[in-house]
Amino acid sequence: MRDTLERIRQEAMEQLASPDADLEQIRIRYLGKKGELTAVLRGMGKLTAEERPVIGQLANEVRADIEAAIAAQGEKAAAAALEKKLATERIDVTMPGRAPAIGQRHPLAIVQRDMEEIFIGMGFQIAEGPEVEYDYYNFQALNIPENHPARDTQDTFYITENILLRSQTSPVQVRVMEKQRPPIRVISPGRVYRSDAVDATHSPLFHQMEGLVVDKGITMGDLKGMLELFAKQMFGEETRIRFRPHHFPFTEPSAEVDVSCFACGGKGCRLCKGEGWIEILGAGMVHPNVLRNCNVDPEEYSGFAFGMGIERVTMLKYHIDDMRLLYENDVRFLSQF
Ligand code: PHE
Repeated sequence: MRDTLERIRQEAMEQLASPDADLEQIRIRYLGKKGELTAVLRGMGKLTAEERPVIGQLANEVRADIEAAIAAQGEKAAAAALEKKLATERIDVTMPGRAPAIGQRHPLAIVQRDMEEIFIGMGFQIAEGPEVEYDYYNFQALNIPENHPARDTQDTFYITENILLRSQTSPVQVRVMEKQRPPIRVISPGRVYRSDAVDATHSPLFHQMEGLVVDKGITMGDLKGMLELFAKQMFGEETRIRFRPHHFPFTEPSAEVDVSCFACGGKGCRLCKGEGWIEILGAGMVHPNVLRNCNVDPEEYSGFAFGMGIERVTMLKYHIDDMRLLYENDVRFLSQF
């Protein structure tokens, strides 16, 4: 029996010495319920009273030795596995990452935001109005009665006899004055619609930004000063502006406003078609009839309004020569801004 135990110890130790020993299988083979060591212990009953404690002690030693060796091997294997994992799964944090494809703002949105920022900086608030509008707000309240020739210049999409797609952002002026008492200082960017054929400079849907200031003692000088400030911030510090007499039914007097060409500084180039000046907006003092239509007393208050095309400014600023590029949404075009 002693020999058997020694042989078991030796065999088990030899097997455990191998680096790829199956520890669980060795445990079952020697220490398991049907294992070899267990079989020896079962036979202990046949021993004499003197032999039993000696063999018992030896058997316990053998078991303890095998268990300790299995545990030691197990730890070694776990350490080796961890080492291997660390080696193969190492991450080089200095490697450049994979850049996610990110979108960007549309050039029209960039310019609109730039305009908004400038006017917000001058104390303006943003007002919005509906794109499906009443004839009253788009025309009548703006001093453009039925059969007025000015209606023909804005080829309007009618939905019913008195509902239309707004052809300008000016109806927002009326909506704001109806709701809010002066002082008023708002801008109103948004979509407008005109039944124009699509070409390099026309689209049935485009964007305007309206501005309206109403208070006591507002003059054309205020309009001019404020637009000059806007032009300098929008197109550069050297930019000058000039007013040319014009006519709008809802302003009196009215003007078209040019900025000195920001490409050539006014010398004349392709962008300004040799003129040195570029027209960017329409403006004027709010017509007394319009104030009255909104229950604002023209004896007490005066105001100015202006309106400009966001496409036009965008095309000038970024030297875009075809308006259709702004709507086709080709990412190769859009990614340049
Ligand atoms: N609504 C005018 C247009 O579409 C622009 C404008 C707005 C002119 C406000 C004067 C005052 O042409």
